[in-house]
Formats: sequence, C-alpha cells, structure tokens
Amino acid sequence: MAGGNWLSEGLDHQPGALITGGSVGLGLAMARELLRQGFAVSVCARTQSDLDAARALEPALQTIRADVASAADRGRLMAEVEQRLGRPLDCLVNNAAIVRAHDYANPFTLEQDRAGDEIAINFAAPVDLCRLFLKSRMDGAANGPGAILNVSTPGAFFPLDANPLYCATKAGFHMFTLSLRRHLAGTGVRVFEVYPPALDTRLADALDVASQAANGQDTIDAVAAETIRALLAGEEVIAPHKQSRALLKMFPQMDPAALDAVNRGVKRREGWDRA
Ligand SMILES: NC(=O)c1ccc[n+]([C@@H]2O[C@H](COP(=O)([O-])OP(=O)(O)OC[C@H]3O[C@@H](n4cnc5c(N)ncnc54)[C@H](OP(=O)(O)O)[C@@H]3O)[C@@H](O)[C@H]2O)c1
Repeated sequence: MAGGNWLSEGLDHQPGALITGGSVGLGLAMARELLRQGFAVSVCARTQSDLDAARALEPALQTIRADVASAADRGRLMAEVEQRLGRPLDCLVNNAAIVRAHDYANPFTLEQDRAGDEIAINFAAPVDLCRLFLKSRMDGAANGPGAILNVSTPGAFFPLDANPLYCATKAGFHMFTLSLRRHLAGTGVRVFEVYPPALDTRLADALDVASQAANGQDTIDAVAAETIRALLAGEEVIAPHKQSRALLKMFPQMDPAALDAVNRGVKRREGWDRA
C-alpha cells in the first residue's frame, strides 16, 4: 500500500488482528479494511445476530461472541484468536465502547449506579486486553513487530454534558495509552491512538451527535481506511478526519521531550513495578 506497511513487512507470516466491537460501525469498517490489507481478522461483540451479519458480508472474518467486560470472556477470546492463528496476535484494536447519558443533578442518575458498565467496557476491559496481548506475545516468544490501536475520541479532552462517564473513561484510557507507548518503546510493539469524528453509528444515537453531524457510511468507511493507512504507515497519533483534526488542535499535547524530562526527574527504586 502507498506509504509502506511496517507491520506486515516485519513479519514472516500473515499478520493477525483482533478488533473488539467489530460487528458493526467503525469496528466492522476497520475489520474490512484490514482484510483488504491482507490480515487475518477476528472480531468480537456480544450480539450473535450482528456477528452473523458481519460474517455474511465478509466470510473471511472470524467472529467470536464475547463480552469484553467479562474476564473469562477476555481470556477465552484471546485463546480462540491465538488458536486460529497458531501463534500470538500481531495487532490488537481496542474499539468496543458504550455510552450512556447521566445527569448528576437528576434523581434518576442519583438513585442507581449506572456508571459501572461504562467503566468496565471502555476502560478496565481494554487495559486488561493490552495486558493479555502483551503476555501472550511474551509467553509465545513473539519477536516480530506488533501493534496496539486504541480507539479514542476528541471527547477524551472535553466533557460532553450528557456523557460524563464516556468522556472520563476515554480520558483515562488516553492517559493509559500515553504511558503504554512509553513503556513499550523499543520492544517492537507500537501503540497507536485514533480520534474518530462524529459518526452516525449506534453509539452516536446514544451520544445524540447524529443531530449535530451525521457522518454516514461513506465517512465511516473513509475514516476506517485512513486509520488503517496511518497505522500501517507508523503514524501513532491518528486524526482521520477534518473534524478530528480541528478538535485536536484545541487541545495541544505535551511535548514528548518535556515529558521525557519530567519522567527522568522521577527516581525509582529497583523493582519499582512490584510496589
Ligand atoms: N460514533 C462516533 O461518533 C464516535 C466518535 C468518536 C469515537 N468513537 C469510538 O469509536 C469506537 C466504535 O464506535 P462506533 O460508533 O462504531 O460504535 P457502535 O456502532 O455502537 O459499535 C460498538 C461495537 O462495540 C461492541 N460492544 C459494545 N460493548 C461490548 C462489550 N461489552 N463486549 C464486546 N463488544 C462490545 C458492539 O457490539 P455489541 O453491542 O453486540 O456487543 C459493537 O460491535 C468506540 O470506541 C467509540 O468510542 C465513536
């Protein structure tokens, strides 16, 4: 593909990718694009009928019913994908997410705890899948290049009034992504983050962004294609649409050199990661 493909070129086998939440929406569009780029692609979701429809569209897709919020399902998911590939996974795409409305001035929000599943699905699950991905590569002595693509949102940088947990979980996952990228520098596993624009998906119905910007299937496909192009070209921060680029410009990132300097100033004892 134009711009090269650092991941496939560094491997002596067909690259394998897992996309969580790849049955519909942006996840499915990215899955189709990775198939076009020659990957063996697995997707998971909770709804079997959507997985069946995705498989009917793309018979080469491996579809696995799994709830990423369940630790048992996460373990089974990684094992099934590895079994299909016959080796550890090369590319993990943490895409599955949900969004709910909350209003902390409203009795309905205060009378029940509805925050838990957003925290579990949008934050705890992808953090643990990163761990499982890296552990499986360590156990399988995978020494080729690998990639983690975390699907973020411009909403990781500002609160949407109706969706505080969505923004908070995405902000937390963004921060984890920044640290993970630094931890893995030099290991061969590169960490990518994409900031899609408002897309007219099921998630957007809950976000109520469709009323503001209904970016339909053509844009979803274009965003997926640009995201995969950037991933394979090694561009770690991916703003795949003019709306993403405009929003990101409002929230400048810390200069990596300044971040290095701050971290150099933090002294760590031997075995610090066991504390
Ligand atoms: N749409 C937007 O405007 C927008 C903007 C910026 C960023 N994003 C991000 O883009 C990503 C994809 O969003 P989308 O708009 O394509 O959403 P979507 O159409 O609602 O698709 C979400 C996917 O995640 C799956 N999923 C949800 N919870 C799951 C769970 N517990 N376990 C396994 N799979 C689960 C869903 O399937 P099941 O429900 O069957 O499990 C579905 O396949 C998300 O990370 C989202 O935050 C979206």
